[in-house]
Amino acid sequence: MSRRARFLEALGITAEWVPRARDDAPQAEVVSEAVAVAAPVATPVAGPVTVAAQAAAPVVEAAPAIETAIPLVPVAPVAAPVSRAPAEPSLVPAGPEPDSAQAGREAAIAAMAWPALDAAVAGCTACGLCQTRTNAVFGVGDRQAEWMLVGEAPGENEDLQGEPFVGQAGKLLDNMLGALGLARGRNVFIANVLKCRPPGNRNPEPAEVAQCEPFLRRQIALVRPRVIVVLGRFAAQSLLRTTTPIGKLRGTVHAYEGIPVVVTYHPAYLLRTLTDKARAWEDLCLAREVHDRAGAGA
Ligand code: URA
Repeated sequence: MSRRARFLEALGITAEWVPRARDDAPQAEVVSEAVAVAAPVATPVAGPVTVAAQAAAPVVEAAPAIETAIPLVPVAPVAAPVSRAPAEPSLVPAGPEPDSAQAGREAAIAAMAWPALDAAVAGCTACGLCQTRTNAVFGVGDRQAEWMLVGEAPGENEDLQGEPFVGQAGKLLDNMLGALGLARGRNVFIANVLKCRPPGNRNPEPAEVAQCEPFLRRQIALVRPRVIVVLGRFAAQSLLRTTTPIGKLRGTVHAYEGIPVVVTYHPAYLLRTLTDKARAWEDLCLAREVHDRAGAGA
């Protein structure tokens, strides 16, 4: 059985699955991803040729307030248009310069080795989430991994166990990794934007993201993966500092600190939304292409 077939089977889709028209999409329960469902979606990747062509596209570095993504099917042969992002507030506010205490904290985190970083996350009291957490969820996996997966924030199970993606969404994530020939802890490091659970799984607040981002930034710098796969709208918009809907962020190679970033749907959303499961496979194919290309150039 092909990897694609195994992936779709793991997601509960038979090999005969045929993509439905966009207006067949069911009502999504998750508001955040439903925004993406409602947004215009680029033409799905048709096959290896398109994926390869996409992977060959120049990597787009994340920049606050600037939208520079290369469309899945380029409309301009030379360069993608650069346009101003909408004047909505970003999840990660560009804001004023951090005060000296915050700048000092960020500099200290940026210099930490793994043991200090681990301890800093475990003992963090920089935002109110420390008061309601059971465990800070540092992240898990191979610290020299070529793949890094970034989710949103711990949920109830993750808060209790201190490990990311251990609930139902985590099982699906493990299946997705398996279909790629990867496994949790083997050449993959999994982390979240937020290390502590927002009570009741509410959306993270910008101030919480701002306090937690230095930890993720340092994790990424220490792992130096070949590719980062971002799971879901919130993580994608936070990491890439954009308000662009996930449907438009998919299918494009972005960059974070010079590392290629591929965006896909959150596994919890995929559990509810049959129509987007095959798209997640396309995203992972793109990520693999990017990973392999990065390896070839290493
Ligand atoms: N959802 C996430 O984004 N991260 C987790 O760790 C669990 C659920």
